[in-house]
Amino acid sequence: MNFISMNLVTMLYLIASVCFIQALKGLSSPATARQGNAFGMTGMAIAFVTTIALILKLQSEAAAAAAAGTGSGLGLGLVALGVIVGGGIGAVLAKKVEMTKMPELVAAMHSLIGLAAVCIAVAAVSEPHAFGIAAVGEALPTGNRIELFIGTFVGAITFSGSVIAFGKLSGKYKFRLFQGAPVSFAGQHLLNLILAIVMVGLGLTFVVAGGTEPAWTPFLIMTAIAFVLGVLIIIPIGGADMPVVVSMLNSYSGWAAAGIGFSLNNSMLIIAGSLVGSSGAILSYIMCKAMNRSFFNVILGGFGGAPSDAGGGGAKEQRPVKSGSADDASFIMANAESVIIVPGYGLAVARAQHSLKELVEKLTHKGVTVKYAIHPVAGRMPGHMNVLLAEAEVPYDQVFEMEDINGEFGQTDVVLILGANDVVNPAAKDPKSPIAGMPILEAYKAKSIIVNKRSMASGYAGLDNELFYQANTMMVFGDAKKVIEDMVKAVE
Ligand code: TAP
Repeated sequence: MNFISMNLVTMLYLIASVCFIQALKGLSSPATARQGNAFGMTGMAIAFVTTIALILKLQSEAAAAAAAGTGSGLGLGLVALGVIVGGGIGAVLAKKVEMTKMPELVAAMHSLIGLAAVCIAVAAVSEPHAFGIAAVGEALPTGNRIELFIGTFVGAITFSGSVIAFGKLSGKYKFRLFQGAPVSFAGQHLLNLILAIVMVGLGLTFVVAGGTEPAWTPFLIMTAIAFVLGVLIIIPIGGADMPVVVSMLNSYSGWAAAGIGFSLNNSMLIIAGSLVGSSGAILSYIMCKAMNRSFFNVILGGFGGAPSDAGGGGAKEQRPVKSGSADDASFIMANAESVIIVPGYGLAVARAQHSLKELVEKLTHKGVTVKYAIHPVAGRMPGHMNVLLAEAEVPYDQVFEMEDINGEFGQTDVVLILGANDVVNPAAKDPKSPIAGMPILEAYKAKSIIVNKRSMASGYAGLDNELFYQANTMMVFGDAKKVIEDMVKAVE
């Protein structure tokens, strides 16, 4: 079964890597996102088929070397089982998952990448000859021991950290560590630091210990500490920061894969792992910047409480607000010259993007100029609102990023805020506010403001919003889909 040469494998891996780079490039804009996805799928298909061919080649070579023809199909059988079970679960989940649940799905998947990195590392330490790292009876080279040590602890932290992030994001589990609120205790950061030092110390002990028999004790204790550290690092981080954490764990999982790739001498793992590692890190940075938070401020934790979106929350604030009906709102909008729509997380929860598009078409037909304003961290994942509007086939030329539209709010007749809260909260201008300095959509400057949400509950950051009490603000309470459908009827 020697139909593939190592040169061809390298060439195919290179083509797959180029596809992955094109995928990232395509995904940087809604207009090219589909094309980006197609590149990603093509790259993955090439990488997958090449790897299977490589396994067949290695198996037949091993069987030939043993000259016994015992290169049984067991290894390939296990690979096939993994592909069927893993691929099947992935396909069902991808079909079922709601857009708003995407971050928790991503967290669950990262945990598996971390676990896979640990399992491969343990197998490679145990039987390096099976991976072509060392000949039978030969000690693991020092370079490989370093790579395996790094891949293992990064993978273990990624696994347990992602499990906690998944629990926090899903909000379904009663377990204390899975609650959105930060879990902190005295001396937490000091304990983390001590554990990290012990972990690295044990890892170095494993690296420097020579001999044909690996130093299992320090290796296994180091791995166990890394699992515990993953939990301890993530529990003090509040639900509000979880998307940043997921992106950070995404980055870790990439580096873990790249580390293992070096050990296995697999260029595909090195390149794909580095792409995931660096893009995840850049994404975390972009999100922190959009929230005006430093990366250390996020990972040291303590910000934000439990998400208030689960059940509509309760009225925490007794101050009076002006409220109106969907009919009132439609009347105001239909008589305006310009309307800016600010979509937020609630619009995604209500799955109201199609009704919204219909409303905008009706208003435009009446001669109203309508634009959409997108905040970079509106929703629960980067580009969430762009994806939502693209799903409803909203023309891209109606959609404006924050820095391009912020100057227009002051001259706009009506701003319609749909299920958005933190991204329009003027508290960000107050230096004492927890969200001080976070760039916001300056909706508060518009002549009239209409806000749709279900109650006076706070947004993800858990803060009250002064905008709702402004004299020129009208609240329209209710589920976004129902309210927008009523608006469509009223405009007609
Ligand atoms: P939020 O501030 O979370 O506010 C969403 C609002 O939607 C809630 O106040 C909720 O109020 C309302 N809502 C929920 N379901 C609704 C429904 N069915 N119909 C109508 N309204 C509904 O959302 P945002 O303004 O989009 O801000 C995003 C937040 O997430 C920011 O704090 C941001 O920093 C954080 N975050 C985002 C990201 C990314 S990358 N997007 C990353 C990290 C953090 P009711 O319960 O009263 O309805």
